[in-house]
Amino acid sequence: MTKQHQHWGSRLTFIMAATGSAVGLGNIWKFPYMVGESGGAAFVLVYLLCIAAIGMPVLVAEWMLGRRGQKNPIDTMRGLARDNGRSPAWTLLGISAVLVGAVILSFYSVIGGWSLYYTVQAGAGRFAGQDADAIAGLFNQMLASPSLLLLAHTVFMLATVAIVARGLKGGIEASVRLLMPTLAALIVILLGYAATTGHFGAALSYMFAFNFNSISGDVVLAAMGQAFFTLSVGAGVMIAYGSYLGKDTNLLATARTVILFDTVFALAAGMIIFPIVFANGLETSEGPGLIFITLPLAFADMFGGTVIGLLFFVLLSFAALTSSISLLEPVAEFLTERSKMGRPRATIAAGVVIWALGIAALLSFNVWSAPLPGVGLTVFDLLDKVTSQYMLPLNGLFAVIFVGWVLNRQSVLDELGLSGTTALLWSVLSRLIAPLGVAVVFVAGLL
Ligand code: PFF
Repeated sequence: MTKQHQHWGSRLTFIMAATGSAVGLGNIWKFPYMVGESGGAAFVLVYLLCIAAIGMPVLVAEWMLGRRGQKNPIDTMRGLARDNGRSPAWTLLGISAVLVGAVILSFYSVIGGWSLYYTVQAGAGRFAGQDADAIAGLFNQMLASPSLLLLAHTVFMLATVAIVARGLKGGIEASVRLLMPTLAALIVILLGYAATTGHFGAALSYMFAFNFNSISGDVVLAAMGQAFFTLSVGAGVMIAYGSYLGKDTNLLATARTVILFDTVFALAAGMIIFPIVFANGLETSEGPGLIFITLPLAFADMFGGTVIGLLFFVLLSFAALTSSISLLEPVAEFLTERSKMGRPRATIAAGVVIWALGIAALLSFNVWSAPLPGVGLTVFDLLDKVTSQYMLPLNGLFAVIFVGWVLNRQSVLDELGLSGTTALLWSVLSRLIAPLGVAVVFVAGLL
């Protein structure tokens, strides 16, 4: 039973897998439209602060938990609580994290399906020469068709399951080694394109001209939720990925790298999308349809639009896939370790349940588009909001509290290779700033 847990092939592979998890629809689809809905630079500022002061310590904490546990997030928390003489109730953190990851995957896969559909549309030259009505029509027709959404969601889930079922080496590692360099190349090409169009400056000032008046409790809560979502923390994913780490990986340096890539991707996505939005006189506050309506419209009459459009949606789909596999991993790891099913069957079992929940999410765009009574949100929005804004920060909060306040302080500092000022800085961040930050944002958001 106690066979040695697998480890990542190299530090670089781990960086690619963790960056692959972090960079996804959250960066390319969600971040730009949230910036647009929340009034631009104020949101960006709070988001960056949350990443640095809260996201970073939580990310490091989750990797540390996983590495110490060498098991799925649930058994990791159970074992660490026991070894440190704490209540088994800490296991709940592992359970909550794994469940939240599964719920996120259910609606994430729906948007992953949109990306696949748009990749096919772009490849078929469907945007060329179309006007605004026709482009909006394409998006609305997709949303109005449960069968189309179901097909796309199913294909996306199948791809996710097919990778994760092959295990750490043959599945996750092999796919990120192929997809991550491609992703980097695609974003550079698209950014180069955006920087040479006329409205790059307008996009920059929209994203970076800070105006403190537009910061409200809602904006802060949304920005913190997005910081957790984009770093993949609070959903068991980084605990699971951390469980495949060996002793020699420098967690702080690796976190710095992953966060840098993640932030660059989010900001780059904004810098690709907003110039096109401004150049075409479109609305920044379009919401979830932002990249699916505004971008194809721009691709419709730009030189080489079909190719650029195809590249963009391939980028989006690949980014989504390297995140969705990470979302499936904690459940797959748990079921593989805890049942007799073996990894392929465990992954398929988890995938089927998550796929079914995703159907409720996709019906929110058509059959069940009326907001749920008493809640005022559709199933999709409810799942998204409850997981990103509340559950991820809450789970992350407990993870960082466990590392900051439960684990032996000196052992944590030794593990991170810190002493003197840097040790003090880490302690202040992980024990005070990060937990208090989450608490303050919660209170601010509820006011
Ligand atoms: N970080 C991913 C993104 O930005 O698209 C989404 C995500 C993956 C969220 C894994 C949470 C998670 F655990």
